[in-house]
Amino acid sequence: MTDLHSLETELLAQVAGAADEGTLEGVRVSALGKKGAVSDLLKTLGAMTPEARKEQGPLINGLRDRVQGAIQARRETLAEAALAARLAAERIDVTLPVREGPETRGRIHPITQVMDEITAIFGDMGFAVAEGPDVETDELNFTALNFPEGHPAREMHDTFFLQPDRDGRRKLLRTHTSPVQVRTMRSQEPPIRVICPGRTYRHDSDQTHTPMFHQVEGLVIDRTANIAHLKWILEEFCKAFFEVESVKMRFRPSYFPFTEPSAEVDIQCSRKGGEIRFGEGDDWLEILGCGMVHPNVLRNCGLDPDAVQGFAWGMGIDRIAMLKYGMPDLRPFFEADLRWLDHYGFRPLDMPSLVGGLTG
Ligand code: DAH
Repeated sequence: MTDLHSLETELLAQVAGAADEGTLEGVRVSALGKKGAVSDLLKTLGAMTPEARKEQGPLINGLRDRVQGAIQARRETLAEAALAARLAAERIDVTLPVREGPETRGRIHPITQVMDEITAIFGDMGFAVAEGPDVETDELNFTALNFPEGHPAREMHDTFFLQPDRDGRRKLLRTHTSPVQVRTMRSQEPPIRVICPGRTYRHDSDQTHTPMFHQVEGLVIDRTANIAHLKWILEEFCKAFFEVESVKMRFRPSYFPFTEPSAEVDIQCSRKGGEIRFGEGDDWLEILGCGMVHPNVLRNCGLDPDAVQGFAWGMGIDRIAMLKYGMPDLRPFFEADLRWLDHYGFRPLDMPSLVGGLTG
């Protein structure tokens, strides 16, 4: 007669030791399967005397029930552990930040931003944008603008010249955006109201000068355009651009070959604590050159100085960008360092407008 107690101990130990569902199933078959140890015991009941069966029946059935129960409990434990292991293996951390797309990751360069701001402001005043090439002729960059041949003002511009062509004419990288004035007057009938933003080049490099820089030219030509209009336009521009209620401006007499009279314009600022602020203080900062377009320039462009007149100005974009956004050095503007651009750049979808705000 099998020792029921030790058989049970043995089977329960096997159940408890089964590390996976396959092993557990093996234990179940060896105990409760057709030829299992417990099934064999149950089969012996039929051949017993009624008294023996009465005594052994409950013992063997009890053993079967407990083994069955233990197997069931173990199966559930193993299933739970398997699920927990799978969940742990397939875990996804949904709290990771979503990777930004180009529309949020990209940055607009401060120069582009400031050009867009300038265009928004002058566009609102009715100015169109005119453009010209970076590689210019000597005629358009200098001669048509009333720089006589051999005039020292040509030298002041530290020009980059290209190789002369077959006729000995040398082109150059434009030293200012003023040739676009000439192109515009030669191709459009007055009234003219344009701004001309673009790249300009001079042989110069230090903290506030780079060989390539940016200017914006303004030009107004009609029958009556005069200095009062010019002053109003520049004042409105400065208030809108520097986002201040009022600015004081100072027009200092100056000289440019293409304007008469000519002036340089300073705007009022304060420089407390090394920080420049506009619309306050008693310091002055030069921001642009301007004047009434010289009659010779009008004539060089096929216009009659007795019939039309106008004014023009030229302003360094890099310089006003540095002033507005507090950037101390111009050189990193053109170093393509993404860390700099991340810091000083603008979000691509915040387009400057007078209605929505210039700086987003
Ligand atoms: N072209 C000048 C420069 O680069 C700036 C300038 C001065 C432009 C007076 C103008 C002007 O149109 O009227 O220094």
